[in-house]
Amino acid sequence: MKLPTKEIQMRYDYSKIMPWFRRKASRFLGKEYYITEEEKSILFATIAYMLNDDLVAKEMNFDLNKGILLSGPIGCGKTSLFKILRYCKFPRAKYNIVSTRSVVTEFIRDGYPVLEKYTNAVAIGELVSPKTYCFDDLGVEAASKFYGNDCNVMAEILLTRYDLFVEKKLLTHVTTNLTASEIEHQYGNRLRSRMREMFNVFGFDNFVEDKRK
Ligand SMILES: Nc1ncnc2c1ncn2[C@@H]1O[C@H](COP(=O)(O)OP(=O)(O)O)[C@@H](O)[C@H]1O
Ligand SMILES: [Mg+2]
Repeated sequence: MKLPTKEIQMRYDYSKIMPWFRRKASRFLGKEYYITEEEKSILFATIAYMLNDDLVAKEMNFDLNKGILLSGPIGCGKTSLFKILRYCKFPRAKYNIVSTRSVVTEFIRDGYPVLEKYTNAVAIGELVSPKTYCFDDLGVEAASKFYGNDCNVMAEILLTRYDLFVEKKLLTHVTTNLTASEIEHQYGNRLRSRMREMFNVFGFDNFVEDKRK
């Protein structure tokens, strides 16, 4: 992913937004928020996405109708970034963040209704629209056992949310330190191919390759 060249039209003045973002992020973390050269374009794209900037999306080749899958090594700042974007109150940063580990813990405690909680539009007695979620740290949750049945909780939730993405444009975001092939291994080919459709993949670690070029 490359930063757009200065000449292209954008909906916002990023020369003002980026320093503002860094100040907000530093306030949120309680220490200085660093942006390395390699991370600049990921951050730029993510912020443009949250601002719904269609011109930047076109230039940087991501899709505003899909969610974001943010991948990268442990400790690179994935969880912080999603929290900070929400803290900044960007127009599209209205998701709930829930760790996959706690989803599975809930499932073990409460069973199948938990799958509905993260996928269903129907609340008791009334219709509510399904929420945008950011599932934090996909892959760290182990396949949980429930009443003797194996249930890959996150796979079930994501497969259902994929259907809702197709039918109702429901958005899902994910952070993970798994690679594409690890995701396929853990969740199966069926989900992997659907994930390709429902997410823009923003990778902090993609730059390892770019640096060698
Ligand atoms: N850009 C940044 N500059 C400085 N510190 C950061 C930055 N991003 C994250 N951190 C800090 O690094 C640590 C790891 O961040 P975290 O978001 O938990 O990483 P990840 O979710 O990728 O494992 C946290 O203590 C966080 O405060
Ligand atoms: Mg994290």
